[in-house]
Amino acid sequence: MQLLDGNTLSQQIKDELRDQTTRIVESGRRAPHLVAVLVGNDGGSETYVAHKIKACGYIGYRSTLIRKESDVTEAELLARIASLNADDEVDGFIVQLPLPKHIDERNVLEAIEPHKDVDGFHPVNFGNMALGNRALLPATPAGVVEMLARYDIETKGKHCVVIGRSRIVGRPLSILLSRGGAFGDATVTLCHSRTPDALLRSLALQADILVAAVGRPGTITADMVKPGAVVIDVGTTRVPAPDAKSGWRLRGDVDFDAVAPLTSYITPVPGGVGPMTIAMLLKNTMTAYQFANPA
Ligand code: GUN
Repeated sequence: MQLLDGNTLSQQIKDELRDQTTRIVESGRRAPHLVAVLVGNDGGSETYVAHKIKACGYIGYRSTLIRKESDVTEAELLARIASLNADDEVDGFIVQLPLPKHIDERNVLEAIEPHKDVDGFHPVNFGNMALGNRALLPATPAGVVEMLARYDIETKGKHCVVIGRSRIVGRPLSILLSRGGAFGDATVTLCHSRTPDALLRSLALQADILVAAVGRPGTITADMVKPGAVVIDVGTTRVPAPDAKSGWRLRGDVDFDAVAPLTSYITPVPGGVGPMTIAMLLKNTMTAYQFANPA
């Protein structure tokens, strides 16, 4: 069993982006600029956004955090997005999810100019991703594929079972893994909340590459994993942990201790897919910058 080390890989990617940024700035051009919009003060969102902003500092990107109170109106938020769309000094921006219930997430995500949509959530980016056209790719699925690529884990001829059909992870990942091209030639089965339990178990057992993106700890047990499989755990659930300083601990979807010995490769949680998500967001920001500011 080998760990798929997202911390080391994401550090490599950040170092590559830092070198690129240094060259840009040395050539007299401005650095890429990422803006994060954070509505309210959800604990998880605060942590994720703080990591994103910190990573910008490391790479040499400019970054801006825009905070809005949780009672911000949808119209106000849409007006702020319009101003970010129009701002030539902003290469990419994200609106951290989840949003308060009174705000229609779809209206917000669709208001983002696709070329600045570094989360890759806009329907234009999703559509181009699915068609294999140039697109800003959603960061978590792109991070999973990047991880397979950097560990040279072939997808051609493999059966990949993705569990979870969310719009930001499972569904786009099932497309990326099967749309053709490098590390996109898997035969993919997508399971979800309406897949009968017995069917899910039998499909999971057939997986050469098993991806769990459900958000429920303990979903993948040892009896669901084929010996030698590659297991990718996208789950990040906060569970109470009185002994931890924060009072909680991150748990993936996979019963790691029981499953890991069976696998050829497995991602830990934390330190697996999570850091890759941030690295790919930063990579998308460079892509958006280069698109808007051709050398
Ligand atoms: N909330 C959970 N994951 C994400 C993400 O990748 N991007 C944004 N904007 N919000 C999230």
